[in-house]
Amino acid sequence: MVMSRRGSGSLTLPSGQTLAIHTRTHDEEDLPHATKRTMADHLRKYESLFTLTPQRMRMIVEAFKDSLELGLEKTSQIVPMIPTYVFGWPTGQEKGDYLAVDLGGTNLRVCLVTIQGDGKFEITQSKYRLTEEQKQGDGQKLLDFCAECLKIFIDSSLTDPLNMYLGTGGKIPLGFTFSYPCTQTRIDQGVLIRWTKGFGATNTEGRDVAEMFRKSLDKYELPVELTALINDTTGTLIASHYVNPKAKIACIFGTGCNAAYMEHVKDTPKLKELGIAGDIDMAINCEWGAFDSFEHEHLPRTKYDINVDERSNKPGEQAFEKLISGRYLGEIMRLVICELIDEGVLFLGQNTYKLENQYVFDSAFLSLMEGDPTDELLMIIGIFSHFFAVETTLAERQFFRALAKLIGRRAARLSSCGIAAIVSKMGYLDEGCHVGADGSLYNKYPGFADRIHEGLVDIFGEKGRNIVTHHAEDGSGVGSAIIAGSCFGFIVYYS
Ligand code: GLC
Repeated sequence: MVMSRRGSGSLTLPSGQTLAIHTRTHDEEDLPHATKRTMADHLRKYESLFTLTPQRMRMIVEAFKDSLELGLEKTSQIVPMIPTYVFGWPTGQEKGDYLAVDLGGTNLRVCLVTIQGDGKFEITQSKYRLTEEQKQGDGQKLLDFCAECLKIFIDSSLTDPLNMYLGTGGKIPLGFTFSYPCTQTRIDQGVLIRWTKGFGATNTEGRDVAEMFRKSLDKYELPVELTALINDTTGTLIASHYVNPKAKIACIFGTGCNAAYMEHVKDTPKLKELGIAGDIDMAINCEWGAFDSFEHEHLPRTKYDINVDERSNKPGEQAFEKLISGRYLGEIMRLVICELIDEGVLFLGQNTYKLENQYVFDSAFLSLMEGDPTDELLMIIGIFSHFFAVETTLAERQFFRALAKLIGRRAARLSSCGIAAIVSKMGYLDEGCHVGADGSLYNKYPGFADRIHEGLVDIFGEKGRNIVTHHAEDGSGVGSAIIAGSCFGFIVYYS
């Protein structure tokens, strides 16, 4: 007789929705499921496709370093190494109230940040989820929406906004964290090079987004002055250093993936003509998500990665990011699952149409699968039955968890390669350094940070332990506020 089992539990999705699971599984019952052995055979195949050896990682690091150097040398390179006009580190003693608008890959956040000195701060914030129409519609409308949310926030959260900055004509300094590649010639300006992370809003690429946002702010007659346009990595770099002076690099592992660090102006040949003193340092937004774009010479891409790339709104671009970031990991896993469905290995006799649409398999599912604490893998039962209306056996669930691990681990190990390239270029290995990191993947994916650390040891040997990542709490909001404040002249910022 076939045993059936009942499981129950609940699972909270990134949207905040809670899903109750009460599921009965029929492991070897009526449906023709794949055997444990078949699943193990398939897993071996994927293991060889998704595993990165230390030797391969070291080769990637070398190529990565060359790309970073090239980006510093000349403009318009694949890894653009964007000068941010944020000069030097904060002292940790900055103080003041600032507003920050953070347009990320998934959400829009509006924050009031109180910088308290001594590396301390407080944040009040509202978060809004962006719709697909907003991401693909008219760019000015998207920025109008940001301004509208800021207006609602100011009206509801600030008791006396106009009196906050009497000495400055009643204007509150605003930092605009805009996490897409922008060419800057000043801190309060930035021309969008290209959208990333699936955005495609029209009439925006090639235009100054700070100027566009000012137009929206004027429309809503807001008592603010946009003083700085900042990438989330630059914000995180400044915020991490404000809290912990050992932090010298910042990374975001979220919907997108990128890094920033502080570079010597004298080592940035493309800045020479500006005549900035060579002993000054400037934060560089690497936009490393673009590493190996178009030519695809260095990164080991599987046919699933190539499929993700070719069906994306920007084929060829963001090659590194497409192997790592939260926007793509679920899609990579979905493509493997679909292949096994097509081969007749998985879900025979079940209706699998819900798995057929692009991006329906959320990357958060991978982290929930890896984090499933139950022997029966109840979380995985819940995901497949609730979202895709298919039943799974324990062998299949174990396979899915192992597959998630392969994809998640590859993402973390590639991330180590990027970090190692900056560390090695800057000569930080012996003295060691901290890396402030933020983003859903880093914060929520079980073991992501440990795997990055493991990767650093694989690349550098024992010395790799000198490089330590840590969660930079709300880097993009706090850093943006510190930078916005420094540009407004309220605080002495340059150290
Ligand atoms: C994408 C963007 C980049 C951002 C990163 C993380 O790579 O191009 O600007 O920093 O996502 O949000």
